[in-house]
Amino acid sequence: MSFTHLKPKIKTILANDTELPMQRLTEICELLQSSIGYYDWVGFYFANEEEKTLHLKAFAGEPTDHIIIPFGKGICGQVAISNKNFVVPDVKAQDNYIACSIYVKSEIVIPLFKDGENIGQIDIDSHSVDPFSTEDERFLEWVNEEVATIL
Ligand code: SME
Repeated sequence: MSFTHLKPKIKTILANDTELPMQRLTEICELLQSSIGYYDWVGFYFANEEEKTLHLKAFAGEPTDHIIIPFGKGICGQVAISNKNFVVPDVKAQDNYIACSIYVKSEIVIPLFKDGENIGQIDIDSHSVDPFSTEDERFLEWVNEEVATIL
């Protein structure tokens, strides 16, 4: 998978300051979900440090019930604490996992840092088994760095 052609599109979306930041993030979710075949659901969660919860602020794909996730719960909640990428090739192998859809087989969650602080994450669900590579990790780290510049 080559992500090169998506980078200028992401920069263009983020540079559109006639829109609110979360509208721009929704467009990034839509771009990624529609351009990358195995990205079936794409969302951004952001942390509420006082409540120790993650809140879904932008997404593309089927609506989910899991708009608020406590720190520590599921793959997302674990990344809120670990500050590390979490690649799940097969969700069935995970005990601490929150199922959003029966079709989801794999997931990748990459923390989003602003001024060195883990403020949220990008979360991608796939209907394919084991589709994510280190290229996805590097690309999504880049996406989050770009997003951090408008937050
Ligand atoms: N599966 C995630 C929950 C969020 S949904 O994928 C949209 C988790 O285990 O944290």
